[in-house]
Amino acid sequence: MDNAAMSEPDIHFVPTPHRVVAEMLRLAEIGPDSLVYDLGCGDGRVLITAARDCGARGVGIDIDPCRIAECRANAVQAGVQDRIEFLQCNFFDARISEATVIVLYLVDSLNVRLRPRILSQCRPGVRVVSYSFEMGEWEADAHTPIAANGVFLWIVPGHLAGSWSISTESNAVSLESFCILQAFQKLSGVAQIRGRSGCIVEGRVSGEHFTVTGELENGKKRMTIAGRIQGETIEGTVSESGAETPFALHRDRSA
Ligand SMILES: C[S@@+](CC[C@H](N)C(=O)[O-])C[C@H]1O[C@@H](n2cnc3c(N)ncnc32)[C@H](O)[C@@H]1O
Repeated sequence: MDNAAMSEPDIHFVPTPHRVVAEMLRLAEIGPDSLVYDLGCGDGRVLITAARDCGARGVGIDIDPCRIAECRANAVQAGVQDRIEFLQCNFFDARISEATVIVLYLVDSLNVRLRPRILSQCRPGVRVVSYSFEMGEWEADAHTPIAANGVFLWIVPGHLAGSWSISTESNAVSLESFCILQAFQKLSGVAQIRGRSGCIVEGRVSGEHFTVTGELENGKKRMTIAGRIQGETIEGTVSESGAETPFALHRDRSA
């Protein structure tokens, strides 16, 4: 990757102001366990600050070899060169599946072009922070109004879309099946609970965790389903009329 031929940058280098860097690190909840990827890392300041102040590890990617040389020199000067790897390559070709945090300071259109790679490669719960620019229809989960247009945060949602049903050996008696429609972190759909159909009124997923509220019996009763997705299983509880019952469903491969 480091031998990539020099191509034209999609955007030129403009550094994030230091006080905004501090807010990006705070919003992304960066700590010693974080592995932070800066896509278009410029002079490396975000990753160097994350390593120096939070003990994080980092991977910086920039298409411009002069920027990469500058990053490496800056990391040595800050004494954090062992914690950060800088790679000269195009961020559209980079593998980002190991990241726990993605940092961006690009423009809306580049964020939107990176969005499918982020959603397909990154694990649920990965935090994405962007200075000033947004992600199209993927609405931010949080925003801090600071400097230009502020800092935006997105949390990569688990992939819940599809049909879910109880396994044949299960004797669960609450949620029997769940058909979920998903637009980024927003959920809608229909659940089958003890022989009755429930319609989701509002639902959200944040990383692996989701909560939906809905109506049963033509709006006569309310229900809440809260759970966690892990691979091909969702588990959690159904709350209805003050009672909570557990459920476990598996992704329906025949759907
Ligand atoms: C606005 S600067 C952001 C610098 C840094 N992330 C910061 O926040 O201070 C954008 C950086 O992206 C780099 N860049 C532009 N297009 C790129 C591409 N396709 N792949 C990798 N880096 C790219 C530029 O060289 C530049 O350093």
